[in-house]
Amino acid sequence: MKLQDKVAIITGGGRGLGRSVALAFGREGAKVVVAARTKETIDHVAVELRSLKKSVLAMPVDISDENQVDLLVQKTLKTFGTIDILVNNAGTRGPIGPICNVLLEEWEKTIKINLTATFLCSKAVLPVMMEKKKGKIINVATTMSLRPNLTPYCVAKAGVVHFSKQLAREVKNFNIQVNAIHPGVMDTQMQAEIRQAGVEAIGTDLFERIKEEGILHSPDEPAQLVVFLASKAADGITGDFLSFDDKEVKFLISQA
Ligand SMILES: NC(=O)c1ccc[n+]([C@@H]2O[C@H](COP(=O)([O-])OP(=O)(O)OC[C@H]3O[C@@H](n4cnc5c(N)ncnc54)[C@H](OP(=O)(O)O)[C@@H]3O)[C@@H](O)[C@H]2O)c1
Repeated sequence: MKLQDKVAIITGGGRGLGRSVALAFGREGAKVVVAARTKETIDHVAVELRSLKKSVLAMPVDISDENQVDLLVQKTLKTFGTIDILVNNAGTRGPIGPICNVLLEEWEKTIKINLTATFLCSKAVLPVMMEKKKGKIINVATTMSLRPNLTPYCVAKAGVVHFSKQLAREVKNFNIQVNAIHPGVMDTQMQAEIRQAGVEAIGTDLFERIKEEGILHSPDEPAQLVVFLASKAADGITGDFLSFDDKEVKFLISQA
């Protein structure tokens, strides 16, 4: 197993990619902490993991609140004793529409959940990882960072990629690897909401790409990229932005 006894926090673990990562990590032997705001969804993932006889902690958390993030880390340490892996997966699509119609509160909320929370969660786990001189942080971003009418989201995710590269350099000497990923166009609630906005709002290319590629892919597929980056096989990779769509990345995963 690739992640035997590793303790991993997965934000947004209640549905979509986060749920797939939680289940994939559990199957690889990790002790999983599933964090999101909706208790029912994380409890459901916990039941799924326990049915596989895996160790799991489900914790309702708003990751844009620093106090709640600190509690998440404290509870994880109390339950499992350490933290080896952080997956900053939770995200929100934010407002869809021309920038002149975006309200300041919508802008701030989108930046806060997608970008600031990535900083808060990383900041909270780093002392543990730095002390043991080992750790992995995987940040979920997107290559969609130039899509009109989705500007707050795209700006936040571009920030996540740059944050990952910055942090990777800062903690390199502590043997902590930090990478960002693009998980591809996945069949999840967020993607359905974006497509519901329609061609006029978000442009034809996304729809054409989905048609060309046949179907939206399952989040279970990019979850394997997250497993790879969290595993020993990826110890040499840091400060990178890996796209699930990339042929070389698919090859790397298949070899891991
Ligand atoms: N779907 C795609 O095609 C696609 C493409 C590129 C990148 N991504 C990225 O991939 C990641 C996962 O996306 P997805 O498609 O799986 O989205 P999703 O189905 O909407 O799931 C998002 C998860 O984030 C959680 N979340 C949102 N705000 C939160 C907050 N303030 N605190 C804690 N948890 C929060 C949600 O739970 P609660 O609402 O219960 O808190 C949910 O579990 C996101 O970062 C997204 O931007 C997705």
